[in-house]
Amino acid sequence: MSKNNQDKLVIFDTTLRDGEQSPGASMTKDEKLRIAKALEKMRVDVIEAGFPVASPGDFESVHAVASAIKDSTVCGLARALEKDIARAGEALKPAESSRIHTFIATSPIHMEKKLRMQPDDVLAQAVRSVKQARSLTDNVEFSPEDAGRSELDFLCRIIEAVIDAGATTINIPDTVGYNIPHQFGELIKNLLERIPNSDKAIFSVHCHNDLGLAVGNSLAAVLNGARQVECTINGLGERAGNASLEEVVMAVRTRQDIFTCDTTLDTTQIMPCSRMVSSITGFPVQPNKAIVGANAFAHESGIHQDGVLKSRETYEIMRAEDVGWSANRMVLGKHSGRNAFKTRMKELNIEFESEQELNDTFSRFKDLADKKHEIFDEDLQALVAEGSWSAENEHFKLVSLKVCSETGETPNASVVLSVGDKEVNAKSDGSGPVDAVFRAIESVVSSETELQLYSVNAITSGTDAQGEVTVRLEKAGRIVSGQGADTDIVIASAKAYINALNKLVLSDDRAHPQLGDV
Ligand code: KIV
Ligand code: ZN
Repeated sequence: MSKNNQDKLVIFDTTLRDGEQSPGASMTKDEKLRIAKALEKMRVDVIEAGFPVASPGDFESVHAVASAIKDSTVCGLARALEKDIARAGEALKPAESSRIHTFIATSPIHMEKKLRMQPDDVLAQAVRSVKQARSLTDNVEFSPEDAGRSELDFLCRIIEAVIDAGATTINIPDTVGYNIPHQFGELIKNLLERIPNSDKAIFSVHCHNDLGLAVGNSLAAVLNGARQVECTINGLGERAGNASLEEVVMAVRTRQDIFTCDTTLDTTQIMPCSRMVSSITGFPVQPNKAIVGANAFAHESGIHQDGVLKSRETYEIMRAEDVGWSANRMVLGKHSGRNAFKTRMKELNIEFESEQELNDTFSRFKDLADKKHEIFDEDLQALVAEGSWSAENEHFKLVSLKVCSETGETPNASVVLSVGDKEVNAKSDGSGPVDAVFRAIESVVSSETELQLYSVNAITSGTDAQGEVTVRLEKAGRIVSGQGADTDIVIASAKAYINALNKLVLSDDRAHPQLGDV
């Protein structure tokens, strides 16, 4: 079916902003850049790169993404405050195509309890902010925060006013994930019908998943006229997350008999992007997750296998290769040369900033290939992720590690760490080898952190697989995740713990967009 412009569904990815608001999912500037490039390769229309006023680190990241990305619009979030908008404009200056996304809450509960403002003042501030943003870019998005619990009349009034003030996209957020699909669809329909200048802007939705309905609500909105969906890779995001990009995009693509619009995404980039986000944030993808879970295209029952062998369509509504599950993924091994390695990395969308970085990663690949017979794409991605975890932020470094674990004996660990420019030895017992290692590290570091999560994930199958460990630490309300990968899961655990400690040492204080003023 041929599509005209009206039929385009704009995909606005907020993995780097709302996704990063998941506790423990904070990302470094380099990690954000890698994800932004993968999103650009997937042909995402708009990349929300962050909230520039939140911290100098956030500003730098948005600025770096704005400088690097050419084919997607780069967006920065700003509350409806003068300083936020000015800062967003500044961060976005290098962008080829930029958007400022400004928001203010419009629900009675938010206006009364959080903002302590009267509706008319909220409306006036929204209009002022949109005008200020329009003086910096002609692409301005306005969100009435908590629209899903706002009064329809007030929503119509404020949206009409901000469109008159120059907003080009109106985003309707279900901030607290409270809405139900038929009702949310009805809300979009009402807004489009009742607001006299609604045809002057694109209507967008931004749904949270507190009731597991983020994708359902987003699709209901699209069926009722929304032409932008805000979403994240793997459904990452505040609390239960946002609508998952891969689910929204594939639902629309698969059900073209129902939807009168489509995205222009290259869906074969979904899997590489999903893996990258998971390995950078340390948020594993559940095996039964739609589209990107390990079991999403696996048929266990004999009847299903038989059916698929006879005719794929008996049990499959999508083709695995269309979302990037490559059937013939190339396997590298210890005899693979630098060229084969470089070529495969390029195909995986992994670029090296310098010859030095390529050489370092190739040398770690050779070390891994000595321990592991076959190196899969996932191993290569983990190698790169490991490089970025350890290349920056290295106050603590693992020098060596010895662990004794024997039936009937208490496990113990000896660890050598470098701390700044000193080398320090530590020993400890523990209830298991990992516990002993963490205690030994703590005897040197005394971080006063609380371990919130420890998880091990096999990167590929087989007993020689690398284990990818995630450690989440909390200190005084700040949560960081650390990752480590190795064929030895005790070493991977030590690397993950040290990575989290390094992040704690270096992470800057940042404001949260939805918590009052800064
Ligand atoms: O959930 C929300 O309301 C938001 C806004 C900033 C759009 O993230
Ligand atoms: Zn949100």
